[in-house]
Amino acid sequence: MDMQNKFQDGFLWGGATAANQIEGAWNVDKKGVSVPDMCTSGSIDRPKRITEKLDTNEFYPSHEASDFYTHYKDDISLMAEMGYNTYRLSIAWTRIFPTGMEEEPNELGLVFYDKVFDECRKHNIEPLVTISHYEMPYALVEKYNGWESRECIGFFEKYCETLFERYQSKVKYWLTFNEINAGTLPFGNVLSLGTVKGYTGSIQDFPDNPQVRYQALHHQLVASAKAVTIARNKYPHFKMGNMICFLTSYPLTCSPNDMLLCQQEMQMKNWFCSDVQVRGAYPYYAKRYFNDNDINIHMEDGDLEILKAGCVDFYTFSYYMSNCVSVEKDAETQGGNLTGGLKNPYLQASDWGWQIDPKGLRYTLNEIYSRYNIPVMIVENGLGAYDKIEEDGTIKDTYRIDYLRSHIEQMKEAVKDGVNLMGYTPWGCIDLVSASTGEMAKRYGFIFVDKYDDGTGTLGRVKKDSFYWYQRVIKSNGEDMQ
Ligand code: BG6
Repeated sequence: MDMQNKFQDGFLWGGATAANQIEGAWNVDKKGVSVPDMCTSGSIDRPKRITEKLDTNEFYPSHEASDFYTHYKDDISLMAEMGYNTYRLSIAWTRIFPTGMEEEPNELGLVFYDKVFDECRKHNIEPLVTISHYEMPYALVEKYNGWESRECIGFFEKYCETLFERYQSKVKYWLTFNEINAGTLPFGNVLSLGTVKGYTGSIQDFPDNPQVRYQALHHQLVASAKAVTIARNKYPHFKMGNMICFLTSYPLTCSPNDMLLCQQEMQMKNWFCSDVQVRGAYPYYAKRYFNDNDINIHMEDGDLEILKAGCVDFYTFSYYMSNCVSVEKDAETQGGNLTGGLKNPYLQASDWGWQIDPKGLRYTLNEIYSRYNIPVMIVENGLGAYDKIEEDGTIKDTYRIDYLRSHIEQMKEAVKDGVNLMGYTPWGCIDLVSASTGEMAKRYGFIFVDKYDDGTGTLGRVKKDSFYWYQRVIKSNGEDMQ
């Protein structure tokens, strides 16, 4: 039997960003206000806040962000220089439908993405588009409490139909919702579900209501399936993917109690949404979880059929870290993406407390592929770190190169294991605003953006050492990693 020893021909190499974290121009060309436009900056020890009204005493980092809106041509050209053949970006819903509820789309918003996709095509870069990346229209929060209302499904469908029709010849790969499983966690209320009507305060202290949260998530799952079906019926050349924040968990000990707890965490945090999106039905274990937690999902006639019909073509996920779980109450805790966990004595953590675990990526790829057996893509991975410009103008981000190299090495192992891996787009290829803390200081990019947490900076772009390293990696299809 042949063993795949290298990344497949046409492997998608690139980087990933999200509109609200990179574009800025938050109220330009008739763009409406989205949830992140109402979120302030924070830091590792000062949680970011959401305000019900804009407060002139607060700083809202999405308003200017990295100003991709103005710099998109130069930025895409830098991506091309690195050798990208794909770029994962999201469309801001509020550029297309400023409140989410308009009859007609905003032509100025549509034109902006026409220009972005044309620029990508000019450089032979295949766009990979996330339809909704943590940015629901704030007007839908005020009127409907976000995805708690079923009305949002119709608004989202219309948004998808508009995008598909307009960009059918420019975009082939689509992801419905970024990290849809954020809705299985309290943090998801602010980030992805918009179930925060009338709330001002820290995003960590939001009074979570799991009944509301899972109902809202159900609406998103139905909306995602509908988007897939619209594409399949009208645009058969599209490839539709889901997107999961993979939160790999290990049992802290081999106690059967820890093993069971770990299995349950993996089920509800990681597998639940993708079981619906890939297999087309709520998984068996969800029933008990909902019973035990007094959650009653209201479904309408036809919902089950919609879910069944709307299965995705490929599975994508973000992977940054892993955590441990245990029934032990006094085990040492650790930070992490979207939610924390327990410290793993075998791993080091980033400056933000996310435990670095390259082998966990190989493990995760195998778990996903063995469960679903459809093509898999890593659409976010990377190290958020403080970068410093040296006196000679260079940025020596060897820590980032080490992180990425060790993860790509494990991707190679997973490919040898037999995983069908389509591509890799590390997160925040150009520095942008952090989703969890609202900082600029937490940088992921190959390209530095001269912008700081007090809002100052020229917005100039500087290539980091990792830029040249990643260029070599892509050119050699992952062979030259030095
Ligand atoms: C993912 C999100 O969870 O992680 C991105 O899809 C986010 O939007 C990324 O930026 C990194 O997280 P953070 O909090 O460091 O920006």
